[in-house]
Amino acid sequence: MHSTKLTNLLFVAFSTLATSQTAKLTSVPNFGTNPSSLTMNIYVPNTLATKPPIIIVPHPCGGSAQDTFSRVATNLPTYADKLGLILIYPATPTTSACWDVRSNASMTHDGGGDTLGLISMVNYILTKYAGDPTKVFVTGSSSGGMMTNLLLAAYPDVFAAGAVSSGAPVGCWDGTTPNSIGGPYCQAGKTYSATQWGEFAVESDRGFNGTRPRFMTWHGTADRVVAYVNLGDQLKQWSSVLGVQWTGNVTDSPEKGYTKMVYGDGTRMVGYSALGVGHMVPFHAEEMLEFFGLL
Ligand SMILES: *[C@@H]1O[C@H](CO)[C@@H](O)[C@H](O)[C@H]1NC(C)=O
Ligand SMILES: *[C@@H]1O[C@H](CO)[C@@H](O)[C@H](O)[C@H]1NC(C)=O
Ligand SMILES: *[C@@H]1O[C@H](CO)[C@@H](O)[C@H](O)[C@H]1NC(C)=O
Repeated sequence: MHSTKLTNLLFVAFSTLATSQTAKLTSVPNFGTNPSSLTMNIYVPNTLATKPPIIIVPHPCGGSAQDTFSRVATNLPTYADKLGLILIYPATPTTSACWDVRSNASMTHDGGGDTLGLISMVNYILTKYAGDPTKVFVTGSSSGGMMTNLLLAAYPDVFAAGAVSSGAPVGCWDGTTPNSIGGPYCQAGKTYSATQWGEFAVESDRGFNGTRPRFMTWHGTADRVVAYVNLGDQLKQWSSVLGVQWTGNVTDSPEKGYTKMVYGDGTRMVGYSALGVGHMVPFHAEEMLEFFGLL
């Protein structure tokens, strides 16, 4: 472990003990175009970085902003305090509280739906807090992980990187109705080649020709909710879109039983397979923030 990394860890551990977090989750009304009536909550630390980075954290199905803030990604606010970055916790008012990763509107750049509302939140924060447009990130678990994949595909101009936990690739749910479960395949029973999975992501923003966001994904081999095959499908998808090939595995990384699958030199894409871990893979803030270039 780098000594800077160790210092960071000690700092975080110390500041957690030494100071009480006075900032908390606050609700933001009227944040902009919001076709599906999403709600927006933010965590803004008391001391912000100049041009603060932004991370948006969509919840799992059935989740809420408060639940994701306090239970799913528990140590993220502590890192936000240390790094002076802003966290956005969006929520969908639908009964299932699952994100729309299936409608043509939500799957299309500037097409409407949930994705457009989420981008309005990011733009609102970028403007209001003079955020750094080159440091906008997304992370989520389960349905939030599926939305992470979709945001990276539909708004590659907005995000620098994303990290998925226990999610599914873009296009897995395309055009289906809720609750269509596909057994050992992607959630909607679909199976495609790497090129086809890649095309699904590209189709969400067909005109895009810039640098695409970096991609990290985590999945447990014992996941009975979002099948393990979704890990391989996401890796196929983004390997194709980003044009990076698998270069090797690192066993027991970052902990025993986890295998880190490296693509290219590991800076643009990496996958983690967690042996015996179910739904959802515990949040690994340190590895994620390092991959994002924030630690
Ligand atoms: C949305 O629908 C249009 C018109 O049918 C189609 O051309 C496009 O590929 C669809 N977009 C996605 C992301 O599937
Ligand atoms: C990339 O897209 C931009 C914006 O649509 C466009 O102005 C530019 O000509 C495109 N560049 C290439 C090489 O296609
Ligand atoms: C790399 O790790 C993955 C996940 O554990 C595994 O499925 C794959 O077979 C490994 N590849 C090699 C060549 O060992």
